[in-house]
Amino acid sequence: MKVYTTKTDINEAIKALKTQHKSIGFVATMGALHQGHLALVKTALSQNNIAVVSIFVNPTQFNNQEDLDAYPRTLERDINLLQSVSNKSILVFAPTVETIYHGNTTSEHFDFDGLEFEMEGKFREGHFDGVGTIVKRLLDIVKPDKAYFGEKDFQQLQIIKKLAKKHTIQTEIIGCPIHRETSGLALSSRNERLKKDYKNEAPFIYKILKAAKAKFGTKSATKITEWVTKQFAKNKLLELEYFIIADVQTLKPVKRKSNKKTYRAFIAVYADDIRLIDNIALN
Ligand code: PAJ
Repeated sequence: MKVYTTKTDINEAIKALKTQHKSIGFVATMGALHQGHLALVKTALSQNNIAVVSIFVNPTQFNNQEDLDAYPRTLERDINLLQSVSNKSILVFAPTVETIYHGNTTSEHFDFDGLEFEMEGKFREGHFDGVGTIVKRLLDIVKPDKAYFGEKDFQQLQIIKKLAKKHTIQTEIIGCPIHRETSGLALSSRNERLKKDYKNEAPFIYKILKAAKAKFGTKSATKITEWVTKQFAKNKLLELEYFIIADVQTLKPVKRKSNKKTYRAFIAVYADDIRLIDNIALN
């Protein structure tokens, strides 16, 4: 499998593919790949001739140096995993920080029409400027026909759709379903860092999301939020940061439910010092 680290090399490879009229599906990752990532790659391969997978731990989207330092970096293992999906049809782009940021590791500033101020935006300042910066640069380098992002990071997905629209990026942004362990815990690179007790307790998050969904037909968002808060108050290992029922388009918390709108419940939880996020479609 070809692994590119410089812009010049990947540009050349992309150019050659374009001349051969090969369609390109793109999956951006920060590595420490798991089946959730691989599902995106498989979808990309099923809809395109070639999948380009980027592996880059993007410093500007971390608002905490410790979190950035602790982020798992497992390039060799990642490459082997990708190879097990396809040897011929996947290109890997694993640039250095210097290649992407040219000695100026800062974010550009973006206006995502307010999507960036909700939920994760409130708790991770500057996070979406960092995500916008890296995704815009990667899309500009790879110039894919389609790019695949997981609903696991639903706010990120909506923001990237907005980025593409506002910056007239000629790539179709496609959302893919959340992959879970059989326990219900959403797959995440951060799960690897969970200590045993916390790992055993973490499926509680999805259990609560499913219960919230069941209540959604008959109970108000406020009542459901109160109930969820109570359940976490009783839990000794997991600490709730936020639970919000929001409109999928605006990501603003729902005040009064409308039959014409689509809603999701979003949650962020601390398991020890590890922050886990998840969400569920409600209607
Ligand atoms: P990362 O967390 O590595 O995730 C890469 C992609 O995989 C994202 O689109 C994410 O939503 C998706 N993903 C992660 N876990 C998933 C799961 N359990 N089911 C389905 N999809 C899942 O998200 C990022 O990296 C970065 O912010 C990035 C977009 C690469 C920019 O740096």
